[in-house]
Amino acid sequence: MHIKLKNNVRWVGQIDTELRQFHGSDYSTHRGSSYNSYLIEEEKTVLIDTVWLPFADKFVKNLESEIDLKKIDFIVANHGEVDHSGALVALMEKIPETPIYCTAKGVDSLRGQYHKEWNFKVVKTGDSVDIGNGKSLVFVEMTMLHWPDSMATYLTGDNILFSNDAFGQHYASNTMFNDAADQCELYEEALKYYANILTPFSSILKRKLEEVLALNLTFDIIAPSHGVIWRDNPLQIVEKYAAWCDNYQENQITIAYDTMWDGTRTLADAIAAGIHEADPQVAIKVFSISKTDKNDIMSEVFKSKMLVLGSPTVGNDMLDSVAGFIHFLKALKMKHKKAASFGCYGWTGEAPQKIKEALEKAGLEYVDEPFRHNWNPDSATLLEAREFGKRLAKA
Ligand code: FEO
Repeated sequence: MHIKLKNNVRWVGQIDTELRQFHGSDYSTHRGSSYNSYLIEEEKTVLIDTVWLPFADKFVKNLESEIDLKKIDFIVANHGEVDHSGALVALMEKIPETPIYCTAKGVDSLRGQYHKEWNFKVVKTGDSVDIGNGKSLVFVEMTMLHWPDSMATYLTGDNILFSNDAFGQHYASNTMFNDAADQCELYEEALKYYANILTPFSSILKRKLEEVLALNLTFDIIAPSHGVIWRDNPLQIVEKYAAWCDNYQENQITIAYDTMWDGTRTLADAIAAGIHEADPQVAIKVFSISKTDKNDIMSEVFKSKMLVLGSPTVGNDMLDSVAGFIHFLKALKMKHKKAASFGCYGWTGEAPQKIKEALEKAGLEYVDEPFRHNWNPDSATLLEAREFGKRLAKA
């Protein structure tokens, strides 16, 4: 399937409806994904990015059905990660001398992964290549958005930004354009993508957005490397990113817990009731960490002003599911979020305090005191948990 974006620019990528896990099994893709590759045919013929390795042969075959591969004057590799560069090996076997434009770090990445000495052309921010008919490609380094090698490419004349991972979503949509997509699904996936992949780089992104917007370029289309293409008011996703990278939060509190014999789970519900009693307007999301997808919980934490985390005590510590969740949270470097902890215990009861220490190390602002209860909560304890929830709502 090839789709026209504008004039002589076509999408030549791969939709992956069946994908359910990405980055190994680190990121859930409930709605699949796509690997977006673009073909520009002006006086020069240019291919922007390729697709993931399992689709390499299909990609090359499809491309061959569209054009004589020898007509490709050069390839732009905006990013070396294998979901975009995976088909390069199969393609370069057919056209081995074709130049590949990428950043210096892109050369490191592609050499390191594929061990090939291709005809690399290193570019940096502001470099441009004339592709004829009054159009050129301008390169913008996007260092650490989200890899050291990442860059974006802007097509003058057609005003298309090939943004690679930025502004993408793991969202398989055969409609391929934002105006034709289900808006709830689209924004759920766009936010999940930002929260789970780009959050650690928010301060870099903030500076980069300011830098790019200061160029006063016109953006008719923003064409990312995953998901749908932004052609209807493309700046809407830029505005969202500007909000998301600026310590984003909504009026929401997330309670996440794991439990062994339902004691900690019962406390979670009582704390939620207390929060609601003190502030009926705040959205409260309650999740079992072991029964809910971690990326989905993290999207909700990203939207929250506070995370309340619970675990029973096992071996003088929290459950490993909770420890793993905090490990992931720490890597995301979320800022300006409050936190609290709770848990039931039978013997020693260290988990809520250990969670407190781990959350502080993860950069969250701990409020109140760890709430814990020995053995199963009775009605008096549930009232205390409710009061705890009320205090958290007011914290
Ligand atoms: Fe979609 Fe960083 O690769």
